[in-house]
Amino acid sequence: MLLEAKNIGITYTSKEKEVKALDKVSFEVESRDFFSIIGPSGCGKTTILKVISGLIKSTKGEIVKPEDFEVGYVFQEPTLLEWRNVIDNIILPLEIKGIAKKESYKKARKLLKLINLEGFKNVYPKDLSGGMKQRVAIARALICEPEVLLMDEPFGALDEPTRLKLNTELNRIWRETKKTIIFVTHNVQEAVFLSNKIAVLTKRPGKVKKILKIDLPEERKLKLLDSEKFIKLVTRIRKSFEGY
Ligand SMILES: Nc1ncnc2c1ncn2[C@@H]1O[C@H](COP(=O)(O)OP(=O)(O)OP(=O)(O)O)[C@@H](O)[C@H]1O
Ligand SMILES: [Mg+2]
Repeated sequence: MLLEAKNIGITYTSKEKEVKALDKVSFEVESRDFFSIIGPSGCGKTTILKVISGLIKSTKGEIVKPEDFEVGYVFQEPTLLEWRNVIDNIILPLEIKGIAKKESYKKARKLLKLINLEGFKNVYPKDLSGGMKQRVAIARALICEPEVLLMDEPFGALDEPTRLKLNTELNRIWRETKKTIIFVTHNVQEAVFLSNKIAVLTKRPGKVKKILKIDLPEERKLKLLDSEKFIKLVTRIRKSFEGY
């Protein structure tokens, strides 16, 4: 096992009030899992990623993870620096670590190939589509070779055809890099398409309602969306969602 959430409880406290965001959340993530977390808005999905990355501390419980655990983070918005071209955005995390440019560029060129943007290394973010920007954000998150890639509704702002295209690309990236990915979405179809394991959360305070294994081949193609098995899985999860 790579990572375990053990009875995580999170309460946000501010002057006026306390908000209980998560309650007794437990799950296990194996190395190379594509683990999706789905649940209604405000149920604590982003909070789980923040605890895993160490951005916030849990009020109760613990995250058991290896020492020197490094994560890459991809947000809903690509958050690229407008004044840097594609390759200079990708190397930013290495620059912060003080790694030499030559070495950083070498790694970045490999990642440009991985995200299919080889011809765009000198282009500035304003000249990229939303989907291309998000691919650059994925490369930037991978450049430090993290154990785990955390993705918080990375395709939520994209139109449907672009989202589907990026879903197949992310599936390929997952297979090629053999990374462990923890992926947050409220799109059931997207979660089933990408994952080998899905945690369904209840509404706030988020609890784990169900953990499902998705028994589909590693390679996911768009025609899968029309298969009976896929549609059945999506329906089953959507129904478990409805009752909260
Ligand atoms: N810093 C904070 N201070 C106080 N309350 C917070 C803070 N961050 C989040 N919350 C509250 O905690 C709950 C869970 O928030 P979180 O952002 O984790 O939900 P989410 O599942 O990611 O929602 P969404 O799907 O809308 O992104 C929400 O009710 C939110 O308002
Ligand atoms: Mg969120």
